[in-house]
Amino acid sequence: MKPVAIRLMKQKKWGVYVTRRILDPAIPMMLEECNVSVANHRGKPATRTDLLNGVRDKDAILCTLTDKIDAKVMDVAGSNLKVISSYSTGVDHIDIKEATKRGIHVTSTGNILTEATADLAFALILATSRRIVQGHQIVTSKRWKYGWDPHLLLGSDVHGMVIGIVGLGRIGSAVARRAKGFDMKIIYHNLHGRNLQMEEQVGAKHVDMDELIAESDFLTLHCSLNNESYHLIEKSNLRRMKKSSYIINTARGQIINETDLTKAIKKRWIAGAGLDVLEKEPPSPNNPLLKMKNVVVLLPHIGSATFSTRTKMAETAARNLLNILNGKSAIYLANPQVINNL
Ligand code: DGY
Repeated sequence: MKPVAIRLMKQKKWGVYVTRRILDPAIPMMLEECNVSVANHRGKPATRTDLLNGVRDKDAILCTLTDKIDAKVMDVAGSNLKVISSYSTGVDHIDIKEATKRGIHVTSTGNILTEATADLAFALILATSRRIVQGHQIVTSKRWKYGWDPHLLLGSDVHGMVIGIVGLGRIGSAVARRAKGFDMKIIYHNLHGRNLQMEEQVGAKHVDMDELIAESDFLTLHCSLNNESYHLIEKSNLRRMKKSSYIINTARGQIINETDLTKAIKKRWIAGAGLDVLEKEPPSPNNPLLKMKNVVVLLPHIGSATFSTRTKMAETAARNLLNILNGKSAIYLANPQVINNL
């Protein structure tokens, strides 16, 4: 091969499509080695058409959880596609099986958002039980008429109560550590295997799902979304929860059957819910949960939304992508099986 051809090959930049504007330093990190096209929809997620046009012939995709990355997207990207780096920890929006089959690495932001999400789960525990949002609304809407009131906004205790954690993994464990500080009794259920370290560290007790449902004052969800966890919380278990209990969800909306949850709250099978995630995001304007302001606290999927966490996520997503393009290991590889398929 002629020297000039070698030089040209060395200089060839990788083609990268970024599906949405994300925080620094992701783009500057990639620019030296990559031709980066960033979808710019004024803050909106890429449409399917934009996504399909954007990924064409790219070596790498940096996506977010609002992008459905399926076989069709991989087909259009073509055989150059080496890595799908998600600016998220959950990767349920990506067809992992398909990517693995094709030898495409899928990477995530792994552990980066653990503490921020656990903070938010706790914020929801406190907000629902101590009626924080309602209190704020009463003061700011000038409906606080008589100063201190023996009956105003009575809620439930958090300290000393039972927290039931579905999924004592990274985020679940971070929630458990916070719960210990609040003197809560910690029970948990893992779909696969016990967490002996956390049992020792915070005294968490593993129970079966039935006991978890029946005993929890706060049932908080921290498992990932997959076929096993889809609609894990539905009518039959909502029916068996304590009437005074709350459900907290900072994981994925589809883990709860929202129609059943709405019914459970209407019929007072449970006391309320704190939800950072919904089955459909944003929810339809007719979603009845939107009207249940006294018992439901709803947030727009902001578990990881702190400057520092989102910045570290951006850095990690770019680092994962560059590492794979350069033949190195990703920091967080979501499909380790791909290595055997290469
Ligand atoms: C994730 O990354 O999976 C969170 O849901 C959003 O940051």
